[in-house]
Amino acid sequence: MTNHNNNGHGQGPAARKAKIAAVTTGDSARGERLFRAMCAGCHSLGLRGIFGKPIASGGAMLYTSGLERRASQKWTFENLDAFLRAPKEFAGDTAMGAVAVKNAKDRRDLIEFLKV
Ligand code: HEC
Repeated sequence: MTNHNNNGHGQGPAARKAKIAAVTTGDSARGERLFRAMCAGCHSLGLRGIFGKPIASGGAMLYTSGLERRASQKWTFENLDAFLRAPKEFAGDTAMGAVAVKNAKDRRDLIEFLKV
């Protein structure tokens, strides 16, 4: 019998996905630093607390049709994660298209910051 110690490398996509889904709690202090560096130039800190609120409800902002179309949905973890990962996939013509956050932990921490 071969007993490879795969050190986690042999995980299938399903296992990886389950692992990611289980970790949806980020580090809000790190998220705040990221937000100040990456987002505050456009948003000041006005998006704090938008987690759980309806999409396109964040205040004095003009929204593109891509986000307006989703205004009946809420900013859940999944929606924020998808928007920040690939803004144009989430909301076609969004004005935030250039701001993709590629790193999953960065997204998780940013989202944690947006909860408080
Ligand atoms: C270049 C300016 C710019 C930067 C940088 C930027 N945003 Fe945005 N953001 C926008 C604009 C413009 C909108 C409105 C987009 C639309 O309507 O398509 C928006 C919308 C949003 C919304 C939806 C608000 C609502 O009311 O539903 C969230 C959440 C958001 N941004 C988070 C972030 C985060 C997190 C970052 C940093 C990783 C970031 N943004 C960086 C310009 C920016």
